[in-house]
Order: sequence, then structure tokens, then C-alpha cells
Amino acid sequence: MSETAKVLLDGQECELPVITGTENEKAIDISKLRDKTGYVTLDTGYKNTGATTSAITFLDGEQGILRYRGYPIEQLAEKSNFLEVSYLLLYGELPSASQLTDFTKRITRHTLVHEDVKKFFDGWPSSAHPMGQLCSLICSLSSFYPESLNPNRSQEEVDLSIIRILAKMPTLVSWIYKKSIGHPLIYPNNNLDYVSNFLFMTYGMRTEDFHVDPVIVEAMDKLLILHADHEQNCSTSTVRLVGSSQANPYASVAAGVAALWGPLHGGANQKVIEMLDQIQNDGGNTAKWIEKAKDKNDPFRLMGFGHRVYKNFDPRAKIIKEACDNVLNKLGIHDPILDIAKQLEEVALQDPYFVEKKLYPNVDFYSGIIYRAIGFPTEMFTVLFALGRLPGWLAQWKEMREAGQPIGRPRQIYTGEVKRDYTNIATR
Ligand code: SDX
Repeated sequence: MSETAKVLLDGQECELPVITGTENEKAIDISKLRDKTGYVTLDTGYKNTGATTSAITFLDGEQGILRYRGYPIEQLAEKSNFLEVSYLLLYGELPSASQLTDFTKRITRHTLVHEDVKKFFDGWPSSAHPMGQLCSLICSLSSFYPESLNPNRSQEEVDLSIIRILAKMPTLVSWIYKKSIGHPLIYPNNNLDYVSNFLFMTYGMRTEDFHVDPVIVEAMDKLLILHADHEQNCSTSTVRLVGSSQANPYASVAAGVAALWGPLHGGANQKVIEMLDQIQNDGGNTAKWIEKAKDKNDPFRLMGFGHRVYKNFDPRAKIIKEACDNVLNKLGIHDPILDIAKQLEEVALQDPYFVEKKLYPNVDFYSGIIYRAIGFPTEMFTVLFALGRLPGWLAQWKEMREAGQPIGRPRQIYTGEVKRDYTNIATR
């Protein structure tokens, strides 16, 4: 006997199906509510509303659990690599050695972008934000593959678009950085692995004298894994919604980049470093800034703290915090803002305001410290978040398309003027 929920509306009892996920999460399926009762539900910000079922990522905000296709994030961060995790997210299983070799070869083959893409960079002012450039570049890339504009073509062609976007994103990201410092653009070196190739295009000049520090490669690979997917967050939900109109994957991913840019979402990693620098320049008085974050009349918020779902530690923040110490020690870097971040965390987690509101460090709180130690400018941090999130966006877009989901079109409750007649301007 399947479980149901009963709703009593206007004296009428309405029975709705309850669905239970594989981790025993429960939802009331309201898809027939309006047909049965004329009512819709309202949940601004979708704080308690599921938009879809999904088999890709599971997270439990109370327990601080995050798993990709059932594998704990701690194990993947420790033992896997970004391309293997990308394969897992996209195809549902860890690849065999031959499958990973083939997947890697396919990606390596598509790392180059059309020469005409370079012309886009001539149009932007030097102050153009990297996220605005990335959003434009990803969407415009579809122009070079007109067959990709129809996502209803063969599975092979859709899969090729996914491979192309995964392969070309590091090239685009490195070119954005190179342009920002007035350096020549570096072409991919397909003898290097995915992360080393990205670092080569970003920091290298010539193959023969480029040395990539394995400490940095390992740190970068781990950060990309930790950002790879996070179920129905703002940007992923955007990718799915845009894709549900049958927009092509390039346009859907570009929309995800745009959503991620916001400081409440992926843009927080840039804001965290700007905040820590501000606190350091203000004398490092963490208690003062904690009070500002608690003050309702003060617009200051503790960036990198709090989360819509995690009401316990964000497991990614724990791993990144450990990696921070490890990477900075190995690179021989002492960045005083790491000490400030740790002090903020220590003070906040003992403060009733943060404890009662269950505000913990999230993925963005420590990640920027590692990006800065590697040498990235702060404005590049959110682009690096997008580089990591890319396989998750593509896997979620693929899942939504393969499920044949309908176009997303939420309802509303109208609160404006009721019917009234037009009046002649002379009488107003
Ligand atoms: C990401 O969804 C995902 O999965 C996102 C992400 C992913 O991997 O895709 O995990 C990545 O986006 C992480 C979050 C990065 N953003 C930040 O670090 C920005 C700072 N954090 C906040 O703005 C906030 O915590 C949010 C946006 C993350 C969550 O906001 P919610 O769930 O809408 O909660 P809220 O804003 O209603 O806050 C609840 C209460 C409020 O106080 P009251 O009005 O109830 O009195 O907590 C307070 C807030 O004022 N609060 C904070 C705070 N975050 C929440 N107070 C001070 N500093 C903060 N950072």
C-alpha cells in the first residue's frame, strides 16, 4: 500500500501520493493538487520544495553528508581525480581503466578552441569580470557547433557537446586569466593531464621549461572534485530550468555560470577573501566583525558562513581547511588571512547567534586561501568554482533531458491590482 498525505481544503479531503527516496527522504507529490483542489503551493526560494528526483548527488544537511552517486565526498577527494569524478557524475559508475582512458582521450582531443574565439577578448575592457567573460564565451561557443543547437539530436551528438564543453572550459578559463595580465594566450599541451594542462595554459609560457608543482596539481584537483556537484543548488537548478526549454547545453551551462556569479552563491569565494583582507587591514579584530555580522542593522555578513541545506559542518569546508594548512606549508607560504579565518571560525562557532542559526563555514570559506596561494587573483575564484561545478551541471542537464522532463514553469499567487478600466491621460 503506497503512502499518501491527506489535505483538508474547503471541507474537501484531498489525498496526495507520498514518494520516498533511496535515502528515505520523503515528499508529498503535489503535481495533481491544483487539478484536484484549485490550490497551488507557495514556497519563495524553494526552501522546502523539491524540483525533481535525481540519482546524482545526495546530501544530508543535518548530518553533514555529501555523496556523488553514493560515494562519500571524503573518499573521492582522497582517492579519486577530477576526470574520474566527472565520469562518475555523468555516467553513474566509476569508470574501468579502459573507460577512463577513452574518456580522457576524448576530452584531450577537444581542448583547442576555434581561433575566432580570440576575437571575443578584443571586445572586453581590461576591467571585465572573468565571470561575465566566461558566461559569454561558453554561450558563444555554440556558434561554432551549429549541430549542437538542437539537443534532441542523437545521443552521440549530445555526448560530444558535453565532452567539448568539459574539454574547452579550462582553455577558456586560462585565456581569460592570460588576457587579464596581458600575456600571450597559451595553446593546450595534450601531453599533460587535465589539471596540469590547465595550469600550463594559465601559468606556463613554453612547454620545454614549464614545471608544474605536484602539490599545486593535487590541491587544484581536490578543489575541483569538491566543487563538482551539489544537487539542486541555485546554479544547477538554473541549468536544469534553462535546459528544460530544450535550450542547448552551451546556453544552459552559460546560465549556470550567470547564477553562480552571485555573492550569495559561488561569488562568495571572492567575497570571503575581500572580507578577510578588510578585517586584516582593519587590525584583525575578529570579535568586532563577528558583532557586525550579528547586527541586523549592519549590512555586513560573514561571507563563507551559513548554508541553505547544511545545518552542520559543510563536509567540503572541513576537507578544504585541512588542505589549506597542507598546501601553504608545502609551498612555504604563511598567509595571515588564514589565521584570521580560523579565528573567525573559532569565535563564531562559540557564539550563540551562529550556534542557534546553525551557521557553519561553507565550501567558500577556505577555498579562496588556496586559490590565492596557487597564484590566482581574487576575481578568478568564482570562475574556478565554475570549472569544478561543470561536470555536475552537465550531469544534471543530461539527467533532466534523458528523463524527458517537461519545461519548468512555476505558478504564482497574484497580489497586484484587481481588474480596473483604462482612463484617459487627461483625467489622471
Ligand atoms: C554556495 O545551495 C548550495 O548547495 C550552494 C553551494 C553549492 O555547492 O552549490 O553550497 C555553494 O553557494 C555556498 C554559500 C555561499 N554563500 C555565502 O557564503 C554567503 C553568506 N551566507 C548567507 O548569505 C546565507 O547563509 C546563504 C545565502 C548561504 C543561505 O541563506 P538562506 O538559507 O536563505 O538563509 P537566510 O539568509 O534566511 O539566513 C537565516 C538566518 C538569517 O537571520 P534571521 O533573519 O533569521 O534573523 O541566518 C542569518 C540571516 O541573517 N545568516 C547570517 C549569515 N547567513 C545567514 N548572518 C550572518 N552571516 C551570515 N553569513
